[in-house]
Amino acid sequence: MIRLATVFSGIGAIEQALKKMGIEHQIVFACDNGERNISLNVDEINNEIKNLPYDKQKEYIDELYEHKCKKENKMECSYLNNYNLSKKHFYQDVRFLNANQYKDKVDLIVGGSPCQSFSIIGKRAGLNDTRGTLFYDYARIIDECKPKAFIYENVKGLLSHDKGNTWKVVKDVFMSLGYNIKFYELNSKDFGIPQDRRRIFLVGTLKENLLPNTLEKQKLTKTMFDFLESNVDVKYYFKQKGFEFVTTNKRARINSKIISTQKANQQFNWNGDFVFEEYEKIKNRQDILDNAYIGYYNNVRGVVRKLTPRECLRLMGFTDDFKIVVDDVEMYRQAGNSIVVNVLEEIVKQLLKYKLI
Ligand SMILES: C[S@@+](CC[C@H](N)C(=O)[O-])C[C@H]1O[C@@H](n2cnc3c(N)ncnc32)[C@H](O)[C@@H]1O
Repeated sequence: MIRLATVFSGIGAIEQALKKMGIEHQIVFACDNGERNISLNVDEINNEIKNLPYDKQKEYIDELYEHKCKKENKMECSYLNNYNLSKKHFYQDVRFLNANQYKDKVDLIVGGSPCQSFSIIGKRAGLNDTRGTLFYDYARIIDECKPKAFIYENVKGLLSHDKGNTWKVVKDVFMSLGYNIKFYELNSKDFGIPQDRRRIFLVGTLKENLLPNTLEKQKLTKTMFDFLESNVDVKYYFKQKGFEFVTTNKRARINSKIISTQKANQQFNWNGDFVFEEYEKIKNRQDILDNAYIGYYNNVRGVVRKLTPRECLRLMGFTDDFKIVVDDVEMYRQAGNSIVVNVLEEIVKQLLKYKLI
């Protein structure tokens, strides 16, 4: 039984990975603020709550978010509808998550903090030198609950961020917490998903880190077309303006076998990957004939549509039992921000193989 925790949890890529792999697990806690960036005086609030019992600390922060931010936490909504975790252990903000209460209760923790610069000039680059960044809170939470292993995911840009300083600090801090580190740069197209998405993964273990130095790539046998739905709602098909934009603008890609990196703002602003369907294919769909624009692309007559949220999820490695409970714009955002599940499956396989979790 793996006891799992996540921060910056999003739609739970690792949760989905364990579920897909049929690995017995229990989710201990999760945390995501749903991109509701409200201005808060962190020190002042921490001061205010530090002497309260853990459940009262959480109550205080939950109420603060509810009071300061009228928007609901849509990430929480997706998360709690899909995974087995009580609201009692879903936190709104990593900065106020006191993980001492979970000490030795977590085997694996996963998260990728949004990238922020922290310069270490004149400092020793210990955990405290990163204070004020979301990375600090990720590392602090690891230090507090001491999992057997952690996975830290980020964009490749972190390597060159602040002239390489940020990356150096990240590694140094994890090692200073007593973890043995392995680093991978992985592209999801090498792990069965036809998406060109390169991400970095740091895997830390408390035991000697026996993980291989590189993970074996798998031959890609599927294309984007294998991930498409068969009967797509008419609302995803373009009218003339959209058709003309995506068939002429370089920002948009049509019928790529391997899609480009999904992003938070994909699809709804004609940015990303799109599907062209020949007239023959849709000629019996009166709703499409009545509403979509039929034009020419590469001298072939047909229509263009967006990827559906379900297709975007599939192209992130999520199976169709993932429940979509938010609106389309939000679902595209959440899918684009996530981690490709298949890549995490491979890392988990290795952690299990070497008995590190
Ligand atoms: C790049 S996404 C990670 C998504 C996730 N890895 C997944 O599998 O879907 C970063 C996440 O951090 C969350 N976030 C940003 N600031 C936060 C904070 N202070 N506390 C908790 N979550 C935060 C955002 O809402 C967003 O969902």
